[in-house]
Amino acid sequence: MTRHYAVFGQPVLHSLSPKIHQAFARQTGIDLDYVAIECAPDDLADALAAFAARGGLGANVTLPHKQRAAELCGALSARAERAGAVNTLVREGDGWRGDNTDGAGLVRDLTERHGLDLRGRRTLLLGAGGAARGVAPSLLDAGVGDVFVVNRDSARADALVDWIGEPGRVHSRYFEDLGTLGEFDLILNATSAARTGALPTLPMSLVGPRSAAVDLSYGEAAIPFLAWARAAGARDAIDGLGMLVEQAAESFFLWHGVRPGTGQVYAELAARHAALQTAD
Ligand code: ATR
Repeated sequence: MTRHYAVFGQPVLHSLSPKIHQAFARQTGIDLDYVAIECAPDDLADALAAFAARGGLGANVTLPHKQRAAELCGALSARAERAGAVNTLVREGDGWRGDNTDGAGLVRDLTERHGLDLRGRRTLLLGAGGAARGVAPSLLDAGVGDVFVVNRDSARADALVDWIGEPGRVHSRYFEDLGTLGEFDLILNATSAARTGALPTLPMSLVGPRSAAVDLSYGEAAIPFLAWARAAGARDAIDGLGMLVEQAAESFFLWHGVRPGTGQVYAELAARHAALQTAD
């Protein structure tokens, strides 16, 4: 019998998640459908309830729903609790159990696919929304050094830092002070700036010759930040495509108990994206 899954977001129709989950399903012989459902933040609860009534067994949520989704879950995994944000919902009884596979997906992509050693890296996290919350705990667990959180709305950066509760290691700073913070070994763009407006100007002094710059977005949304990082001399400029595939594999495992291989799906998507960017 076909199992039903979906991703909820706004915007979400461009999402690669349906393609990725269908590829995993073919690989593992599981009969499922996985659709993208666009909904406004205020409609998320109703949209999830309607999906469950249609037999939905699991869902991903993407921006801007990750924090709201955590509030709608009857139970949370330890890592979702720690992040205060959810990207994976598993139907449990007549409610949802929330988990967060973003951080594990990011760390696996950076360490295993891109061969980065994260330990001790002085880290700048740009953004303090659901995406930033999802990855911060996993980065800390992976052994990064001090983490500086900078957000347009500084109160939100403070809230994230307070939530993490490691004052000796995780700090918030003002956007206006970015030029005074020195070089970082790891710079992550967890803002949706390129999708909702324009990426704010970032000082090149943040980047050193060994810096890795990572955008949690992929495709066009990742271009401005990664172009800035390359121009500033970063050694690595990595988009969020690998993280997307890895977090999907982790969600797939939660739903189906089978861990799919990610190499081929990633290679196909990366080739298509490279082709699209060249064609532009
Ligand atoms: P997500 O779940 O993707 O994190 P979100 O919770 O809406 O989505 O958060 C979006 C992030 O991008 C926030 O850090 C937001 O900054 P604010 O908290 O100040 O709103 C950041 N962001 C969005 N547009 C931005 C822009 N034009 N410039 C700078 N930051 C921006």
